[in-house]
Amino acid sequence: MYIAGAMDKPKTSFHALTVAEIRRETRDAVSIRFDVPDALAPHFTFKAGQYLTLRAEIGGEDVRRNYSICAAPAEGALMVAVKAVAGGKFSTYANNVLQPGDRLEVMPASGRFTAPFGAERALSYAAFAAGSGITPILSILKTVLHSEPASRFKLFYANRQSGQIMFAEQLAALKNRYMDRLEIFHFLSMEEDDVALFNGRLDARKCAEIVGLLLDPADLDQVFICGPEGMMLGAEAALLAAGVPAETILLEFFLSAGPSTAQSESAAAVVQAAAGRRMGILLDGRKSTVVFDAALGNILDSVRAAGMPAPFACKGGVCATCRAKLVSGEVDMKVNYGLTADEVTQGYILTCQSAPRGDDVVISYDM
Ligand code: FES
Repeated sequence: MYIAGAMDKPKTSFHALTVAEIRRETRDAVSIRFDVPDALAPHFTFKAGQYLTLRAEIGGEDVRRNYSICAAPAEGALMVAVKAVAGGKFSTYANNVLQPGDRLEVMPASGRFTAPFGAERALSYAAFAAGSGITPILSILKTVLHSEPASRFKLFYANRQSGQIMFAEQLAALKNRYMDRLEIFHFLSMEEDDVALFNGRLDARKCAEIVGLLLDPADLDQVFICGPEGMMLGAEAALLAAGVPAETILLEFFLSAGPSTAQSESAAAVVQAAAGRRMGILLDGRKSTVVFDAALGNILDSVRAAGMPAPFACKGGVCATCRAKLVSGEVDMKVNYGLTADEVTQGYILTCQSAPRGDDVVISYDM
């Protein structure tokens, strides 16, 4: 499995961009297009499948979220889609409050849920998406169809109801335009189709059926998967069981489902045990000593509470914006969806997920 999420070193500087357009995509989702002035254009180039980190002050709180870009690079627009989630601070703000003309802080694109797309490629692609997981896949799909005339694409897209299908018109138009190279299969869990295969969720069993009926695993060069964690892991397991090589499968995690209760209890015990430990923190060329605050729960928040502007975005172990290098000592990392095995071997940690094991921990955000 290849987990997408982080890049070599996530770019962490924000730029203020004006919202040029907000379009309602479904009852509970909007797309937001930004105006990018010429002077900032070099900062906002992106690859299909990448995401932007947005920041806003909401109710006096610095709120940051990652949203995938739904445009293809060739379209010349910088645009993300935001689906409202229950209790979601940023998504509610974006859906109900944000207006064209408002300004948002935006970080340059990050993420490696992408591929070296190019006209010379003649590949067979497939994608599994659920809900707003379509967003990066739409960018990828448009890029493949526009820029790789000899490539083919199969999309398996799950939603609860037809009214919740994001970008439904755009997908239908693409299907008409590229009818010999694009196939789209919709799956609905709360509406009945005559064909039983298209009813229900994209769980492991359904994905296994798809792999047998609609997809030839031997004729598959690259697979993209984005949606809720359970759906992604189910699709991945079905593909692996059918013999699809792990290195051809890319997963994009938005937010982790969170650890199990047993894991939460042991993580809480680790955090309590770390209370009051002193850590050396290197940031922007300065070294400071910071005391781990168990009430805050992780190194990142202890560092920020000490007045050091350590970068972050998701705080969920996904984006790797809070990545730092462990120079000495040991830490416990609760979850890691953002670092590759290589980065972990090199000593990188996600500070939003980590607690120090002793008093000898030194961490550098500068490496
Ligand atoms: S802030 Fe995203 S992984 Fe830590």
